[in-house]
Amino acid sequence: MIQKDIPYGQQQIDEQDIAAVVEVLRSPWLTTGPKVAEFENKLCHYVAADHGVAVNSGTAALHTSLAAIGIKPGDEVIVPAITFVATANAVIYCGGKPVFSDVLPDTLLINPEQVRKKISSKTKAILAVDYAGQPCDYYKLQEISEEFGLHLIADSCHALGAGYDGKPVGSIADITVFSFHPVKHITTGEGGMAVTNNPVIAERMRAFRNHGMVTDHHARRKNGTWHYEIHELGFNYRMSDIQCALGISQLNKATQWVRRRQEIAAVYDAGFSALPGVSPLTVGPNMEHAYHLYVLTINKEKPAAKRADLFQGLAKRGIRAAVHYFPVHLQPLYQRKFQTNRGDCPVAEQMYEKIISLPIFPALTSAEIEKVIEAVSDLMVNELAQE
Ligand SMILES: Cc1ncc(COP(=O)(O)O)c(C=O)c1O
Repeated sequence: MIQKDIPYGQQQIDEQDIAAVVEVLRSPWLTTGPKVAEFENKLCHYVAADHGVAVNSGTAALHTSLAAIGIKPGDEVIVPAITFVATANAVIYCGGKPVFSDVLPDTLLINPEQVRKKISSKTKAILAVDYAGQPCDYYKLQEISEEFGLHLIADSCHALGAGYDGKPVGSIADITVFSFHPVKHITTGEGGMAVTNNPVIAERMRAFRNHGMVTDHHARRKNGTWHYEIHELGFNYRMSDIQCALGISQLNKATQWVRRRQEIAAVYDAGFSALPGVSPLTVGPNMEHAYHLYVLTINKEKPAAKRADLFQGLAKRGIRAAVHYFPVHLQPLYQRKFQTNRGDCPVAEQMYEKIISLPIFPALTSAEIEKVIEAVSDLMVNELAQE
């Protein structure tokens, strides 16, 4: 029998999910139908937010959020240096300039003190990222946002089901963005949602995802008219009913899946606790970590070389680790477009050399978790130590 590699992340689809999708395929509404509002309402309930706007990716949700708060050419938005490129790319979609803040070495979350230093007269928003599934320091970021009159947007694509000081992620920032890509907590194939408690921003986001139309077909039918208007430019970022039906069915399992991710992380923590030269990222007090990623740091001489060897050694044993993320300000596009450079965010640059993401997803079996712990331990203690 051929053994399948263990990926770093993977979706879980059951018969209920399939039945939910098939039901929509047999219905009159494949898109812009009733499943969209149902998914939005149910997700809002889960994250304790008032308004949800479903779109067709987390990236689209970021773009929609930034457009809704009016980011335009000349505006600056502060983003962490360690994140998926989509966070910063979304600022460029609006014509804005992403300004990179350094991160904290023990969590890789945006460093509020560094954020403060990056604020200029052009700064309009802070776009913070709940890296790996741990909420960033919302109280400090809210304090800074209020002091300087900025919007606070949370890129919580890693953090569905996470909590900060007893509050669900989704209920804290001005707008919070989620992704439903297959490696995330729940999936719709591709998909995302922006949630907010501000009804005006929610309306703008609804128009933005639908070409900028200020009424949708439900409202036009209700008003007995065919006429629609666009006042601002929008996109087609709509999520289909097929995707929303899958999202609703997946959401029923979100709580148990987040708990399972936390259990796996605890087993990894225990398994690596006695292993010299590696340590997990720190989890802050009062944090409900949703563990989209389990990130180990390598605290040895020449960590980048050790990390590369560990990555290859694990791959040879059928374990597909990953690295999240190469600092965005060092991407060639950003260096060219914004003259960012090595040295701009030294903590992010140093930590990037040390990090590796190990497999974590609800369907990971105990035997697979043990296999990962044994492989990492063996490679770190025996093979890599001899070099
Ligand atoms: C931090 C972060 N932001 C945004 C995104 C974009 O989400 P999507 O892939 O749904 O467009 C991702 C996806 O991996 C992400 O990790």
